[in-house]
Amino acid sequence: MTNKKAEYRKDVAFINRQKELAFLEEYISDRPESILFLHGPKSSGKTTLLYKFLEQVGKKQDLNVKFLNLRETFTNVYEDFLKTFFEVQKEGEKKENLETNINVGFFKINSTVEKKILEKRADPFKVMKAEFLKLNKKGVKPILVIDELQALDKVYIDNDKERLLIIALFNFFVAMTKESHLAHIIISSSDGYFINQVFTDSRLKKTAIFYKIDYLRKEDVTEWLLNLEKYSKIKAYKLSTNDVEKIWDTVGGSMWEIQDILSGLFNKALDQVTSLYIKKIRNMIVDYVVKPGKMEIEKLLRHFIDHDELSKAQIDPEEEKLLRDMVRQNILYYDPTEAKYYPQGRSFHNGIRVYFSPES
Ligand SMILES: Nc1ncnc2c1ncn2[C@@H]1O[C@H](COP(=O)(O)OP(=O)(O)O)[C@@H](O)[C@H]1O
Ligand SMILES: [Mg+2]
Repeated sequence: MTNKKAEYRKDVAFINRQKELAFLEEYISDRPESILFLHGPKSSGKTTLLYKFLEQVGKKQDLNVKFLNLRETFTNVYEDFLKTFFEVQKEGEKKENLETNINVGFFKINSTVEKKILEKRADPFKVMKAEFLKLNKKGVKPILVIDELQALDKVYIDNDKERLLIIALFNFFVAMTKESHLAHIIISSSDGYFINQVFTDSRLKKTAIFYKIDYLRKEDVTEWLLNLEKYSKIKAYKLSTNDVEKIWDTVGGSMWEIQDILSGLFNKALDQVTSLYIKKIRNMIVDYVVKPGKMEIEKLLRHFIDHDELSKAQIDPEEEKLLRDMVRQNILYYDPTEAKYYPQGRSFHNGIRVYFSPES
């Protein structure tokens, strides 16, 4: 039987990331010493990069990867966390993806252990540690990847809401890396405030590496857009250097938005697509700003007409509250390692400018 791959008029591109992939490869070739935190604005390519990385190294090395994408799972009670981290395996069943060594189902346990964990008669962290020990003994490197970890931010282990799960997890991660060197722990998050909590915790700061995954650089965007057939399998149209310039000016290196523009170009002219795009972002800002405190919000946004960033040192606590909400709503991004606010990509920067001067 021959498998024919489905053909679409446009494919999902994967551009460059050599530097990031090399960094990750280096991280896992050292003995586990520290937790790795990948951070960066929403849609900056963290998840895609992680999958690409694991696909590449999984073929070459003896790894056991447990990949958990918390955005895809519902987790706000402790039992949900247990169900996401542990998977009950029936006898004789084998569900691992042998080709890549990536298992998304997580720590495999039998139903007796599950019962014990749920009844709080067994410690889930001990179960995880035992699995890491077992893998190390076999000469396999365990890698635990948790995508969008902030989803667990408000989960308590106990009914009295005294023991925060995230604290217990961090203690466990520190023990697995810095103290016993049993597993590599890679964590990603788009939530700058969450990363900030971690970043300002002195113990974690000492045991973690922070690495920013940003949008693509201009040269990568240029390479991509001048070679659409090669990277995106687009045959219906070609772009000129002027067109590339225009797309860069509109959305910068934000891949998701570039793909959106590319889709629009199948039936509209570039100028029309880009101006509709900025209008859309402007309208999102209009919608966001209509609320009590509008004047204060506008005052903060006005800063970005002429500036790329706003430093935390320049603001007061009242302003911080407003900025925090703008970060939560993905209008701005907060970079904890630099203590700076930025508009969420070039499109939002443009949207803010157009909001204040609709004529331009
Ligand atoms: N290196 C890349 N080249 C081209 N497109 C990419 C690349 N990395 C990610 N993308 C695209 O960008 C979008 C967002 O990526 P994603 O990995 O989900 O971001 P994040 O996890 O940071 O929110 C996806 O549509 C993805 O296909
Ligand atoms: Mg993601």
